[in-house]
Amino acid sequence: MAGLPYIVGNWKMNGTRAMLNEVRAIDRAAARFPKVQVAVAPPATLIYRTRDAAEIIGVGGQDCHPLENGAFTGDISAPMLKDAGADFTIVGHSERRSIHGESDADVKAKAEAAFAAGLAVILCVGETEAERDAGNAETVVSGQLDGSCPLAEGAVEKLSVAYEPVWAIGTGRVPSTDDVKAMHAAIRAKLVAIYGEAGAGVRILYGGSVKADNAAELLSVPEVGGALVGGASLTAESFLGIVGAAA
Ligand code: G3H
Repeated sequence: MAGLPYIVGNWKMNGTRAMLNEVRAIDRAAARFPKVQVAVAPPATLIYRTRDAAEIIGVGGQDCHPLENGAFTGDISAPMLKDAGADFTIVGHSERRSIHGESDADVKAKAEAAFAAGLAVILCVGETEAERDAGNAETVVSGQLDGSCPLAEGAVEKLSVAYEPVWAIGTGRVPSTDDVKAMHAAIRAKLVAIYGEAGAGVRILYGGSVKADNAAELLSVPEVGGALVGGASLTAESFLGIVGAAA
């Protein structure tokens, strides 16, 4: 697995212009951690201003529409994210899959649209608690990867996968390091099956209740190449605690 640890803050539907103070603080501090790649995904309304306020960190969207433009009220396309200053976008977050009913095919189309627009992609996968309890966690995640991994030429080079067990998101619960290790190994094997050798270079992030006090342990698990952080990315102080743990 190549690359620096990648720590990404997903602000979800949080943040107004006041958050730009946090952005500046994160950006200043990121200079002290050259061995960590740091990025934030603010709400779309703040992408342009975040890009403007930050020199070092990456800036991304949280979702994109699969088409470039058209009559889709409220949606935002990948070229629009790019134009606003985004470097990447998240696709397939479980909140999009469950609340907005997005299928694997939808997620794949979004990922391919993002690549076509020149954006890197963080593709999210993860099982529900019922699926884990039924012993189906790896089968579910494997199926999500089969259905949603982008296959466009060159896509794999700009792809990261985030494993986020749905039951760990925002709950304060995290899987055991053994379970994270087993799932990340299974994801790696699936990525190699899909992409061949290139699949070995895809960064696999863990997401779900990552905090400053559990980040070092999670990041020490084999095949965990970074973290996708929700709640703890909303202040510079808590987010930088995780960045520091990755350094
Ligand atoms: O995208 C981030 C994840 O959904 C994790 O959220 O850190 O608040 O559990 P959380």
